[in-house]
Amino acid sequence: MLETPSLADPFPSQCDGQGKGPNPPVRPAAGPEVEQPAPTDPAQVTPETPLAALNLSWRERDLPEHARTKHVHRLHPYLGKFIPQLVEVFLRKYFAPGQTVLDPFAGSGTTLVQANELGVHAIGYDVSAFNVLLCRAKLARYDLDRVRREVLDILEKVSRPDDGREAGRDVTAPGFEHSAAGYLRRWFHPRALRQLLTYRRLIETEGYAYGDLLKIILSRAARSARLVAHFELDFPKHPQRGPYWCHKHARMCAPTTDALKFLRRYSTDTLERVAAYARVRTGAWAAVYHADSRRTAFPPVDGVITSPPYVGLIDYHAQHAYAYYLLGLEERRGDEIGSPNGGAGQPARERYQREIAQVFEHALAAMPSGGRLIVVAADRARLYPAIAARLGVEQEAILHRDVSRRTGRRAQAFGESIFIWRKP
Ligand SMILES: C[S@@+](CC[C@H](N)C(=O)[O-])C[C@H]1O[C@@H](n2cnc3c(N)ncnc32)[C@H](O)[C@@H]1O
Repeated sequence: MLETPSLADPFPSQCDGQGKGPNPPVRPAAGPEVEQPAPTDPAQVTPETPLAALNLSWRERDLPEHARTKHVHRLHPYLGKFIPQLVEVFLRKYFAPGQTVLDPFAGSGTTLVQANELGVHAIGYDVSAFNVLLCRAKLARYDLDRVRREVLDILEKVSRPDDGREAGRDVTAPGFEHSAAGYLRRWFHPRALRQLLTYRRLIETEGYAYGDLLKIILSRAARSARLVAHFELDFPKHPQRGPYWCHKHARMCAPTTDALKFLRRYSTDTLERVAAYARVRTGAWAAVYHADSRRTAFPPVDGVITSPPYVGLIDYHAQHAYAYYLLGLEERRGDEIGSPNGGAGQPARERYQREIAQVFEHALAAMPSGGRLIVVAADRARLYPAIAARLGVEQEAILHRDVSRRTGRRAQAFGESIFIWRKP
């Protein structure tokens, strides 16, 4: 059973500006104080760029939000992604076009999407069905005329006035779990739910070629149409049924009764994003699998760029509970590494280290000697040095970067590490 998350510490290990949290100390770089180079322009990085010349602590003005969320990177909100420019730096430094990068924790697909832009083939795995759906929708090759026709066709059909009866699939009908019916009734106004269920039924019955993309539009609209306060979209605790003082907009707001306006808004936005990505993508291939990376033998790859889940922080299933219930996605919550349900104490940390090492052992087995395993993590508990020792990798460098930006609504500051390991 999925619940909306309630996190003791909602601080994400990697963040694209949609997270929030306390400000842990940034680990200082070892050695004497040296003058920081200028913030790195990812496009200028080459295999010859020395690691010491990199400054990855971009400020808001170096890397504004629209650049961090370009094209399909913001097809759908996702808490805990890393920023595409960070991936770009390491793809340019360590991978050549035609090589293959693996991300065993693909998440929203940042590594895979960025790899394709640079002509690098990509393979991703994730245990969360919604994340795999999102990756596939981002990476699919679209016939732009056809995708436009389908997105507008379903929108026109869902907008037709109904006669007041529930036009969509009945949430109590067989096929919907009892808990799904309970969740959907609790978190949506009946009118909004009727619109969302109608959209879902149309995806199932109209034979669209791009059903995955339509499901992402539906999920994004559902997220916005929940009965939640505007400032609580990430971690709502209770349905918001009446008007409330909105900290985000500094006025009284009321929960929405209408999902159609979001379906319209995100249809337009999705078409623009898909078209923008089509302009920069290459012929490189990408594949995404719904699997538990602890139990996966990966195919041959040249290296890895990934940001693993962290211990006791984000429940990646609960984050998109509305999508699981609305789309009937397979839930594999028990297979999530580091899930908050397992706690964050010493036993959970040790289990986390074993499980992350297990995944990376499989990844190393798929890589050639000299290949890089690059891991981005806000390792406040210092769990990664022991993981490296367990794996027997050569430590080429640990880079630190400060993340400090204000997106207008939220300020955040934290540090994260980039572990660059070589397979001996
Ligand atoms: C920090 S997120 C990755 C975010 C990604 N770098 C991005 O930019 O979107 C970690 C991911 O690991 C996935 N995960 C957790 N346990 C897993 C497992 N056993 N096998 C595969 N994926 C897993 C989670 O579902 C989550 O999507």
